[in-house]
Amino acid sequence: MLTRVSRIPTYRFFGGGAKMQWKDEYSLGIAEIDAQHRELLSLFGRISQGIVAGASWSDLHYRVSELRQFADFHFAFEEGLMRMFGFPGVQEHTSAHRALFSKLDDMERRSVTSNVERELLQFLVTWLIQHIQADDRDYSRHIFSGATLVRSQPTSPAGAKLGT
Ligand SMILES: [Fe+2]
Ligand SMILES: [Fe+2]
Repeated sequence: MLTRVSRIPTYRFFGGGAKMQWKDEYSLGIAEIDAQHRELLSLFGRISQGIVAGASWSDLHYRVSELRQFADFHFAFEEGLMRMFGFPGVQEHTSAHRALFSKLDDMERRSVTSNVERELLQFLVTWLIQHIQADDRDYSRHIFSGATLVRSQPTSPAGAKLGT
């Protein structure tokens, strides 16, 4: 069961721009994951700043595509890591990852007929930090709690005689 954090960083939506900056408290202690989260935060931040500056969905299309591409890579990386260390919540966590794409798909569809930029902004400034601080922290705790790599079962080529 994944827990949700109630403490979500606050951002100034307008006037000062949507501040999405890396803080040490976001670190999970896994260098590669932290580096990917920094990149994601930067991609989220670029979109948010565009919205604050008045950009429409069509203006942001390229940045949203970039975000989708990198998020896809990051999620696959994380899901692989969770499986390697036998994290029991991998399926629920994978669903949370898919939910990001579903939300973007939904807003993109609605962007044709209505203004969804502010909704996108509010979604972006909460989703990533909440996901890192709750869901991602869950698997990192599992890994650091002494989880070991899931070992593959010994196999032998079909028809081969063991012990020869
Ligand atoms: Fe993550
Ligand atoms: Fe994740």
